[in-house]
Amino acid sequence: MEVFYVSLFCVFISTILLSLHFLFYKKGGGAGGAAALPPGKTGWPVIGESLEFLSTGWKGHPEKFIFDRMAKYSPSVFRTHLLGEKAAVFCGAAGNKFLFSNENKLVQAWWPSSVDKIFPSSTQTSSKEEAIKMRKMLPNFLKPEALHRYVGIMDHIARRHFADGWENKKEVVVFPLAKNYTFWLACRLFVSIEDPSQVEKFAEPFNLLASGLISIPIDLPGTPFNKGIKASNFVRKELVAIIKQRKIELAEGKASPTQDILSHMLLTSDENGKFMQELDIADKILGLLIGGHDTASSACTFIVKYLAELPEIYDRVYDEQMEILKSKEEGELLNWEDLQKMKYSWNVACEVLRVASPLQGAFREAINDFVYNGFSIPKGWKLYWSANSTHKNPEFFPEPAKFDPSRFEGSGPAPYTFVPFGGGPRMCPGKEYARLEILVFMHHLVTKFRWEMTIPNEKIVVDPMPIPAKGLPVRLFPHNHKPTIF
Ligand code: HEM
Repeated sequence: MEVFYVSLFCVFISTILLSLHFLFYKKGGGAGGAAALPPGKTGWPVIGESLEFLSTGWKGHPEKFIFDRMAKYSPSVFRTHLLGEKAAVFCGAAGNKFLFSNENKLVQAWWPSSVDKIFPSSTQTSSKEEAIKMRKMLPNFLKPEALHRYVGIMDHIARRHFADGWENKKEVVVFPLAKNYTFWLACRLFVSIEDPSQVEKFAEPFNLLASGLISIPIDLPGTPFNKGIKASNFVRKELVAIIKQRKIELAEGKASPTQDILSHMLLTSDENGKFMQELDIADKILGLLIGGHDTASSACTFIVKYLAELPEIYDRVYDEQMEILKSKEEGELLNWEDLQKMKYSWNVACEVLRVASPLQGAFREAINDFVYNGFSIPKGWKLYWSANSTHKNPEFFPEPAKFDPSRFEGSGPAPYTFVPFGGGPRMCPGKEYARLEILVFMHHLVTKFRWEMTIPNEKIVVDPMPIPAKGLPVRLFPHNHKPTIF
């Protein structure tokens, strides 16, 4: 009897599998000779392959998810199922180029719904075209010409940061300090908040918001997601109050039109002479705060790690930065020209962004059915570009595990292979700002200290940004230069 039931069960399962096969074959093979879906698997019901995707990051090797599937299915594009959505991962330089070049033609930006809830974008306060227009204006506030005047302010904040957080300390934990540095800078440069106690007041809700963004989206009292939504509402309200106050101060001549990015936003109109609404500005500033928060601090942290591990590279950065320091009068702030001289330091930072890319990639959504590399991509599918599919690929970066800043000398990496900031119209608008803050950080770091890691080979966790598991504690050895003068 038992054998009978087992056989019946096997027949049942076979029937289901066969039906699924035919269903899939019909869909994949496409009626009328249409292209097949990309090869790959969709994993478990509902969660798909999300766990494998996330867990390779938790183990410190997010590229494993990508490379395993590139090898098994196709090096150009494979099918998967992530964050509750049917998805295709586009790989290699060609995949990056395709997604970056087809923005608003075949693809558009997409964020998981949890992100939308915590961080409502201006699409909710204005039409979609309006949001695209706003997005086009964003780089205006962060382009090199606009940032020239902020280099001295960055240096001033960096001096205060190093005096408070690093000097006269035997040991420090780098990641929280780097976060403090980038957040302090952002508060000062975006909305002129410089007083550390006021920065602190913003930092707490802001950290809740940032944790909420990467939490499981369960909106119940006490969950990180719920706290994230509350914190987001609080920060937005505070920002709107700051914006209203600034409008009054600008009208009364008590605030300067160039004192920060907020003044710049309030006084810049689009090509039709239209100014941004208060809520749009609050959203844009919140977007900049989020975009620049953990990304740049992760990069600064890995710079400290690699310079500790590679003394010959530290020495070259030190020599370059000391040249600049020696060329300055006592107390004279860094300026734009000084930063242009930091070529080797920037190559080191780029190599850090290659091996420990702060963002692993980003999603798009197919806005039409289209065919890519002979595979059919249905409208509505989520598409993912992955920095690691080129950064850690020997085809584009020989010996990818080797830390080698000389890769960025001369004409540097081939187009669409080095993509820590993405590419195309949605390329990170904070790229230049990040370059400046990272270089100013490196200048102070190496001209003030040598250091060693107190946990050699500290584990790296990528969740969703790479960070050393214990935050990178280091032992400091100050140089015997003169103390910081403000
Ligand atoms: C090392 C530091 C940084 C890295 C590696 C980085 C990387 C990225 C990447 C990969 C994207 C997504 C592009 C895409 O969707 O394809 C992005 C978007 C963005 N970044 Fe950055 N970023 C950094 C720093 C900053 C800073 C300092 C700011 C602000 C000043 C910023 C603001 C933004 C904003 C607002 C977006 C969203 C743009 C949009 O929605 O179109 N980022 N960033």
